[in-house]
Amino acid sequence: MDKLIKIGNTDVASKKIGLGTNKVGGHNLFKNLKDEDGYAVIKKAIDSGITTLDTAYMYGLGRSEKIIGDVIGDYDRQKLVIATKAAQDPDNDFKNNNDPEFLKKAVDEALKRLKTDYIDIFYIHFPDEKTPKNESVAALNELKQAGKIRSIGVSNFSLDQIKEANQDGLVDIVEDNYSLLHRDAETKLFPYLRKNNISFVPYFPLASGLLTGKYSAADAKKFSQYTPDQFKQILIAIDKVRKIAEKYDATVAQVILAWYMKNPDISIVIPGARKPEQVEQNVKALDVNLGNTDYHTIDEAFSDFK
Ligand SMILES: NC(=O)c1ccc[n+]([C@@H]2O[C@H](COP(=O)([O-])OP(=O)(O)OC[C@H]3O[C@@H](n4cnc5c(N)ncnc54)[C@H](OP(=O)(O)O)[C@@H]3O)[C@@H](O)[C@H]2O)c1
Repeated sequence: MDKLIKIGNTDVASKKIGLGTNKVGGHNLFKNLKDEDGYAVIKKAIDSGITTLDTAYMYGLGRSEKIIGDVIGDYDRQKLVIATKAAQDPDNDFKNNNDPEFLKKAVDEALKRLKTDYIDIFYIHFPDEKTPKNESVAALNELKQAGKIRSIGVSNFSLDQIKEANQDGLVDIVEDNYSLLHRDAETKLFPYLRKNNISFVPYFPLASGLLTGKYSAADAKKFSQYTPDQFKQILIAIDKVRKIAEKYDATVAQVILAWYMKNPDISIVIPGARKPEQVEQNVKALDVNLGNTDYHTIDEAFSDFK
C-alpha cells in the first residue's frame, strides 16, 4: 500500500494517504484550535511517513500555509507534496475569483507563506461565476511552465465546469466532496476523470469524524444533515465495518481509509486531524490490506448513499 501514484499526466508522485489540514491554523472555520496542535500534527504526519499535505489560503486566511511553511523547512522539500488552493478574494468580501491575474498573485503569496519556491498541486478552490474556466487554467499552465506549480487542480467544480476547464487537456487533478456517505462522484465525475486521466482526491473522507465510529445514537443531533432514520442506518453500516476491523486488528477509521485506497478511482485520501494521535492512527491504514470480500461488504453496507 506504500507505493506511489502519479498525479494526472505529471511526474508528481504521492502515497495514497496524505493529510488534510483545515484544522491546522483554520481558526476562521473551527473553534478551539491551538496552533501548537497544528505544528504537532504536521510534524507527526511527516515523521510518520506522510508526504502529501493538503492546505488552502482559506484555512486561517494563510495561517495553515504559514504553519506548514514553518515546519517543512526542517525536512527534505523534494520528498514532500504540498497542495494548496485559492479563489476567495480578501479584497472583495472573500467572493470567489478565478481571474487569471488574481490566481497568479494568489500563487505568489502562497509560495511566500509556505516558504518554498514551488507548489506541487495548486487547485482553484471554488469556481466563480464569470471567468471562462479554460482561461483560468491557461494562467495556471503559465505558472506550471515557469516552475511555480507542478500540477493543475480544480475543486468544487461541477462536471460541466471541469469539462470547460479541461478543454485543452490541462487539468491534472480534481478535489471534491466524497465519502461512503456522499457517493455522487462515482456516477457524476469518475467516468470522465478516468477517461481523461485526471486524478481524484475526496474531501471529508471520514465525514468530519462520523466515519471513525466514535459517535453513537446519542450524537444524532450533531449531524442534522441526516434524518433520524438515516443516522440509524449509518450507525448500522459502521457496525458492519467495526466487525471487519476486528479481523484486521484495525480501527474503523483505518478500514474506511483502506477502502478508499483500494478504489482505483481515488488517488489520494486526505483525512484531516485535530490532534497528532489521530494522524498516527490514520496513517496505519496503509498497513490494512483489505480483501475483496470485505471491500464489497463495505460497498454494499453504504449502498444507500450512492
Ligand atoms: N476542497 C475543499 O473545498 C475542501 C473542503 C473541505 C475539506 N477539504 C480538505 O479535505 C480534508 C479532509 O476533510 P476534513 O478534515 O474536513 O474531514 P474528514 O477528513 O472527513 O474528518 C477529519 C476529522 O475527523 C476527526 N478525526 C480524524 N481522525 C480521527 C481518528 N483517528 N479518530 C477520531 N477522530 C478523528 C477529526 O475531527 P475532531 O477531532 O474534531 O472530531 C478530524 O479533523 C481537510 O482537512 C481539507 O484539507 C477540502
